[in-house]
Amino acid sequence: MSSKKMPSLYFDDLKVDVPIIQGGMGVGISMSSLASAVANQGGVGVISAAEIGFIKEDFAKHPKESNVVALKEEIAKAKQMTNGVLGVNIMVAMTDFYDLVVASVEAGIDMLFVGAGLPFGMPMDEIKKSKTKVCVIVSSDRATNLIFKYWDRHYGVLPDGVVVEGPKAGGHLGFKYEQIFDENFALEKITPPIIDVVRKYEKKYSKKIPVIAAGGIYTGEDIYRFINKIGVDGVQMATRFVATYECDADIKFKEAYINCKKEDVTIIKSPVGLPGRAIRNKFLEAVERGQKSPFKCVWQCLKGCQYRKAPYCITQALVNAQKGRLAGGFAFAGANAYRVDKIVSVKELMDELKRDYEKAAEI
Ligand SMILES: Cc1cc2nc3c(=O)[nH]c(=O)nc-3n(C[C@H](O)[C@H](O)[C@H](O)COP(=O)(O)O)c2cc1C
Repeated sequence: MSSKKMPSLYFDDLKVDVPIIQGGMGVGISMSSLASAVANQGGVGVISAAEIGFIKEDFAKHPKESNVVALKEEIAKAKQMTNGVLGVNIMVAMTDFYDLVVASVEAGIDMLFVGAGLPFGMPMDEIKKSKTKVCVIVSSDRATNLIFKYWDRHYGVLPDGVVVEGPKAGGHLGFKYEQIFDENFALEKITPPIIDVVRKYEKKYSKKIPVIAAGGIYTGEDIYRFINKIGVDGVQMATRFVATYECDADIKFKEAYINCKKEDVTIIKSPVGLPGRAIRNKFLEAVERGQKSPFKCVWQCLKGCQYRKAPYCITQALVNAQKGRLAGGFAFAGANAYRVDKIVSVKELMDELKRDYEKAAEI
């Protein structure tokens, strides 16, 4: 018989009371306010490092430095608001990936979530000297194998956790366009082979490595199903945390979630060359019609961005959206965004998820 309460989650000696990780959301959607609120409810609150320097006045002049300063400030702010577990999400695809990892470790962050690329260029000396746990975000057993093999050979350590992100997630996706709606790539399908890879390495290192499922997990019943039927140790959720008072985005961004219909949640081809899931609006429709918003690239923040060919600057569009200026941008969102119908507090949301998990456990 499965226990009725959600199990705690352990990354070695680091205990997370509630097995829910709030997914990092750039640009500026998950910062210290949301992250600390989630951590205060026993989950992992995650700050997104993606172009976080936009909150600093001289971002346009000194983007790289602003990112490091702003990230350290947000971590410090979050730590003042909670004693719970905090993380930072850093995309490998960011040009300043390495510096942001070092900055987070220096700031004493509990956890790092690294995805959107293979994490082969890690500042491993700094990480090994710290207490920071590193989780990798993957979308296939192939990528998991490559990462584990590389870390085993070159670093002599393994990641402390694995987040499996399926095709229903929001933001940039680790899938080809045609895989997104193919049932063979559903989160339920891609997770078990990834667990197999992790188990193999766990044995070699006699280390327990939690596997976390992400992408389209919406209710406490979903969490129950993934933990007890698919065999993961926890979940990562983002879309639901957008419609909370504590989420760091402007109210208009949250309203875009509340007002959208199922058919508005769409797949775009981002200027970075990856597919991404977002809420259709006038800005995206204009891009689809071929309209360009000329811009001067301040610095190539994403390694793969073809900014000379790009119809708009992705950072500028996401900053505009975070500030509620949706005429000049758009909201990234998970496939379930259309189910969001009101704004609640993080505590209300976490209580609802726990209650519905326990209800599912009773059936
Ligand atoms: C608005 C938004 C922004 C996101 N930004 C990032 C990001 O910067 N880096 C990242 O690794 N994942 C990002 N994600 C993915 C989430 O962290 C998460 O894994 C995923 O959305 C989970 O699926 P769900 O939204 O259905 O719960 C973003 C998701 C959303 C909704």
